[in-house]
Amino acid sequence: MKILVIGSGGREHALIWKIRQSSKVTELYCAPGNVGIADLATCVPINPDNVQELLKFAADNQIDLTVVGPEAPLALGIVDAFKREGLRAFGPTKEAAALESSKSFAKDFCNRYKIPAARSQTFTDIVSAKAYIKGHPLPIVVKADGLAAGKGVIICDSHDKAEKIAEEMLLEGSFGDSGRCVVVEEFLEGEEASFIAICDGNHVLPMVGSQDHKPAYDEDKGPNTGGMGAISPARVLTEEIADKVMNEIMLPAARGMVTEGMPFVGVLYAGLMIKDGEVKVLEFNVRFGDPETQALLARLKMDIVDVFEAAISGTLNTVSMSWDPRPAVCVVMASGGYPGSYEKGKVISGIADANALDDVVVFHAGTKDDSGNVVTNGGRVLGVTALGDDMRSAIAKAYEATEKISWDGVHYRKDIGKKAL
Ligand SMILES: Nc1ncnc2c1ncn2[C@@H]1O[C@H](COP(=O)(O)OP(=O)(O)O)[C@@H](O)[C@H]1O
Ligand SMILES: [Mg+2]
Repeated sequence: MKILVIGSGGREHALIWKIRQSSKVTELYCAPGNVGIADLATCVPINPDNVQELLKFAADNQIDLTVVGPEAPLALGIVDAFKREGLRAFGPTKEAAALESSKSFAKDFCNRYKIPAARSQTFTDIVSAKAYIKGHPLPIVVKADGLAAGKGVIICDSHDKAEKIAEEMLLEGSFGDSGRCVVVEEFLEGEEASFIAICDGNHVLPMVGSQDHKPAYDEDKGPNTGGMGAISPARVLTEEIADKVMNEIMLPAARGMVTEGMPFVGVLYAGLMIKDGEVKVLEFNVRFGDPETQALLARLKMDIVDVFEAAISGTLNTVSMSWDPRPAVCVVMASGGYPGSYEKGKVISGIADANALDDVVVFHAGTKDDSGNVVTNGGRVLGVTALGDDMRSAIAKAYEATEKISWDGVHYRKDIGKKAL
């Protein structure tokens, strides 16, 4: 089979690494990929949101299966466009991708199908938004409706701040079209976890649990990022809670999407808040998480291509997933300053030494080749991923590997997985 993966981050490197292990693969491409991916696949310089060029590439090269990493091309309808040309792409249609690309759609959907979520209301009009904000307790959460690269959610500790954020989104266009509608939501306390499942429209095949680490600094301080590290499993996702998530969230969501006339095929990712044995959905994503995927795929012990093919053909009920019982930890190494401004082009050393350790794999994200040197080229640069006999040794292994890698200005959290001990 000829397979194309779309994207260029650590998530896509992990997908390529896993797909490469499949005996079914004859040729593997990634658009646009990165330096690490280039060792395993042919990188094609087409951006993920250039659906027309990707389609042309896939048709010209008779790609048998396309796996879409990021949300943007899904929201642009890449799966629909491929389908129209008779090409197989793994992911939801544009319509179904609204579960992620419109938070107001997702909230209404949860209400319609009684999926537990934070109480909220959606506004396009600032006067009603302000009135609602004033009448609700603090903290209060203001969310831009559309895609905002993880920056569109503001937790406000005063009514003034919430009103100001709503004004910026609705009146000043601070998030462009994504903020033309806002969701104002009750603040939920508890512990977050990621529940990621593969869906074929009718069946839901859950992966093991995982947890992201969003804030930039240790002890969950500092601004939110795309994710500074991940672990799998997540201690909060006990078997009992996982059953609850399936019965109260994932299965109702899959059935709901069928009822809506848009069966969900692809990755359904529920961002959860868990407290005292109760679970609520913070949001749905319609693609693999980054960096959760790096930790998850390090544990997956089967051919992932079988899963994608079964999802597309509606036969996921015939597949079961097999997992390494050992925990995995992914430590994200970032450019100093991220998620604010940072410098690029710093020469990275030590990647090969880290990769040489047993049960360690270094996934590339923002890297590029500069005359034979691997240099930094983004905020999140590497995802150092390790397995260990228990969580403590997985953490120790991941940091042993991380410490072999350096560049001028590198930053990483020192406490990934600590909460799980
Ligand atoms: N209702 C809420 N209560 C508490 N924290 C929230 C709430 N909604 C979002 N958050 C926090 O903000 C983060 C980002 O929100 P999320 O809805 O996942 O949006 P996105 O990932 O699109 O930025 C969450 O991971 C969580 O930490
Ligand atoms: Mg999120």
